[in-house]
Amino acid sequence: MIHLSPSILAADFANLQRDIEAAQKGGADYIHVDVMDGAFVPNISIGLPVVKSIRPHIKGIMDVHLMIENPERYLEDFAKAGADLITVHIEATHHIHRAVQQIHDLGIKAGVAINPGTPVSVLEPIIRDVDMILVMSVNPGFGGQKFIPYALEKLKQVKALAEKAGKSDLLIQVDGGVTMSNVEEIIAAGANVLVAGSSVFDGKDATSNAAAFTELFARL
Ligand code: DX5
Ligand code: ZN
Repeated sequence: MIHLSPSILAADFANLQRDIEAAQKGGADYIHVDVMDGAFVPNISIGLPVVKSIRPHIKGIMDVHLMIENPERYLEDFAKAGADLITVHIEATHHIHRAVQQIHDLGIKAGVAINPGTPVSVLEPIIRDVDMILVMSVNPGFGGQKFIPYALEKLKQVKALAEKAGKSDLLIQVDGGVTMSNVEEIIAAGANVLVAGSSVFDGKDATSNAAAFTELFARL
């Protein structure tokens, strides 16, 4: 099954409930929450109070993407705020294996993200222990950037690594520059959780934008 995870970074922050509900009406079964600290990435987005406030309006999976240094410091807080899945960057911690264990000890799913400049091979020792791998297809920090084509190659490598490790159920997420024009080749490369910010929340209404994705997923 292919999942759509609209990134609320591109939503109207004064109307998050409205925009989340609109995306869900279009079939989105995840909601992607980008947390940025102004240190790991050159931008500051939202934090715990906002995450807590939107939780009751999310019907599916609250998918929290932590773009913060030493994410271990905040795992418990984000789990308490209602995250179903927390993704940490391998570049943001010295102890990725411990961070994954900590997320699991909190009773939720764990994802590990890699930046465009990080090779897939670093995932080999931990792929058996994670629920999701996130392949960044832009440099994290901002919405609305262009998809980096080499991410397709990396998705194929992650899929092959997952198969080798006997993890056919691995969630493989892609984040950045996903549009209706490139989504089919992204899925063909192995992604099964598609993050989409500007292509869901910009332009037409979020319900019809999300529905265009989810109707395409249903046909594949
Ligand atoms: C980038 C974020 C993304 C971003 C995606 O740092 O992790 O989730 O919001 O936005 P689009 O889909 O507009 O590239
Ligand atoms: Zn993200």
